Formats: sequence, C-alpha cells, structure tokens
Amino acid sequence: ESSENGKIISLYAQATQLYHHILVNTELGQEALDYLHQRGLQDDMINEFNLGFAPTTDILKNFVKEKQINYQVLRKSGLFVERSANADTPVDNLNDRFKDRVMFPINDANGHPIAFSGRAMHTEDKTVPKYLNSPETPIFNKRRVLFNLDKAKATIRQTKSVILFEGFMDVLAAYRAGVKNGVASMGTSLTDEQIGILAHQARKLSICYDGDDPGQNATKRALEIIRPSDRFDLEVVSLPDKLDPDEVVKKYGEEKFREIVKNQHETPLSFFMHFYARNRNLENENDQLAYISDILKELVTVKDPIERDLYLNRLASKFGVEYRNLESQLQSLMAEQQ
Ligand code: GTP
Ligand code: MN
Ligand code: MN
Ligand code: MN
Ligand code: MN
Repeated sequence: ESSENGKIISLYAQATQLYHHILVNTELGQEALDYLHQRGLQDDMINEFNLGFAPTTDILKNFVKEKQINYQVLRKSGLFVERSANADTPVDNLNDRFKDRVMFPINDANGHPIAFSGRAMHTEDKTVPKYLNSPETPIFNKRRVLFNLDKAKATIRQTKSVILFEGFMDVLAAYRAGVKNGVASMGTSLTDEQIGILAHQARKLSICYDGDDPGQNATKRALEIIRPSDRFDLEVVSLPDKLDPDEVVKKYGEEKFREIVKNQHETPLSFFMHFYARNRNLENENDQLAYISDILKELVTVKDPIERDLYLNRLASKFGVEYRNLESQLQSLMAEQQ
C-alpha cells in the first residue's frame, strides 16, 4: 500500500540521518570515523554519501519508540529483527538489525535511501558477515537497484558510458579519484533489470571488477550475462597485482587509477584470451588444446565475422595451427548452436 511505502521511505531517511549523526558528531562513532578516514574517505565524501554508524545499542529502536511509528511500518522496513519471545508491547519485540556496523545508504535513482549495507569493522571473526544488507522490502528490490546510480546518472548520460564495480568501497574510491560514472550491483551478479536500466543511459559499459580470482570469475559471468543482450560496447578494465579498485587508488594514487580506467582496458575476447590462460601451462599440449577449445566456444557468440577472423588468426599463429582447421571447428560449433 502506497502510504505505507511512503512511511517506510520516510523511516529510511530518518535512519540515514541518525546513523550519520552518530558517526560524525558522537563519541560512539569515533572508531568508525577513524576507520573510514584510514580507508581514505574524508569528511567531504562521508557527508556527500551520508555514511553512518550503527552502534551496538538498539539506537534505532529507541528512536522510533519516541516517534511512535506504526508497528507494521517498522516490521516491513527490514531495519529490525523480530524476537520470538512475547514482549509487552509490539515494538519491544524488535531489535535493530544493524549493530556495530559502518552504514552505507543505498539510494534509489532519485537519491532517496531505500536500503543499507553495513560493514563490520572487525572481520577476524569469520562467523560475522563482512557486509550485511537490508532484506528485500516493499521499497527495495535488489534486482533493480544499483549503488550510486543517483549520483552517477548525470555523468553516465553525458559520457554515454558507465563503469561497473564489485564493491561499494570501489565505487567510492573511484568517485573520490574523479571517476564519477561508477555503480555496483548489490553483492550479487548483474540482473537483466539492471542491464536494462543502464542500457537506457549508456552505450559503453566497462567492467572493473577485482583483479583477484573471484573478481575475474565474476567478470566472466557478467560478460556472459551482458553480451547476449547486445546493448553495449563492452570493455574490461584490467587492474594490476590482483588488486581491487579501492586498493589500486590507495597503492598507486588517484591519477594512476584514472589513467588505468582510461587506457588499461581490453575487449571481452581479449579478456577471455587472458582468462583461459590462467592456471594453465600453455607449453603443454593438453593445456593448449583445452585453451583453444575454450576460446572457440567464446567465438561462437561473436556476431562480427571480422572479429572472429581476427581471433582465429591470433590462435593460429600463437599455437602454429592451421587457420582453416580452427575455422572449420568453429563452423561446426556454430552449427551445433543452431
Ligand atoms: P572491502 O573489504 O570493504 O574493501 O570490501 P570489498 O568490496 O573489497 O569486498 P570483496 O571484494 O570481498 O567483496 C565484493 C562485494 O561482495 C562486496 O562489496 C559486497 O557487496 C559483497 N560481499 C562481500 N562480503 C560479503 C558478505 O559477507 N555478505 C554479503 N551479503 N555480501 C558480501
Ligand atoms: Mn580520524
Ligand atoms: Mn573480492
Ligand atoms: Mn574487493
Ligand atoms: Mn576492497
């Protein structure tokens, strides 16, 4: 019901201000503020993104008790967890979901907070998830939401290009470095809904995921999701030393990061040429055959015959095999797909 949704949205706006206030103005938030500073986020970024801190106490519960907010609104907001024990009043059934976490508001495309992701500052205890997200609610469908789209959309439309990052901290590090057209999906793989939203605003899509193995595997998955839609010029940004974007900014500086995003990118097929060489010894014949087979399978989906030709030639000269053998193998793979 829409008036109830309006009340949930209003609750998120108030929670965002409360968590932000705790972070920047109170002793409770000092450790979190130091944590963010130490990660390179200064007060201008903290204010622009309304970052916050949720302390260990039930601060939001106590806040809403004073405000006498409707219990159904509180339940559906996802900001609380319900205790099973019978409590005297409904609101005493609730506890804050987010405790002892640095809070990243997730905004809708118009800049209204509709969810949070909370990061634990201490991650030695592996039973505590590093990031905790709001659950799905009447106002938050994570398949449709992209972190930072509200701030990025003007630049995305101007430049007709968008950059996809894995993590919130990566989007923030890029933004700080002046790369303002970055967004991130919600810790899950990209959805058709998100692709559709971006395709309305951009022609070029760059994938800039982490340089480590999970990040490279996620890049492969993202390419497989995006390529069939054929709605973007796609490129993959390759980061040095298996780092993620946030770590690149920290290690090499903002200017170097901008330079990497601008110049260090490759086509999807070139990415696959590197990806499938990982963990293989291309001096070994079996590895060579498996590698060639993997690349040919990727070439099946390439519509441009010149592009196919280019990579067949590369394979032929790289491994000293006959072009026409590769081509006929590709033709039979393509026939299988029909
Ligand atoms: P930092 O460690 O803060 O720099 O985060 P990161 O973005 O580098 O994290 P990582 O590369 O490990 O993971 C990439 C993304 O996966 C994160 O940004 C989150 O969106 C998501 N993610 C990581 N850990 C968790 C988790 O414990 N729970 C959930 N739900 N998502 C997670
Ligand atoms: Mn500090
Ligand atoms: Mn990672
Ligand atoms: Mn990372
Ligand atoms: Mn990181």
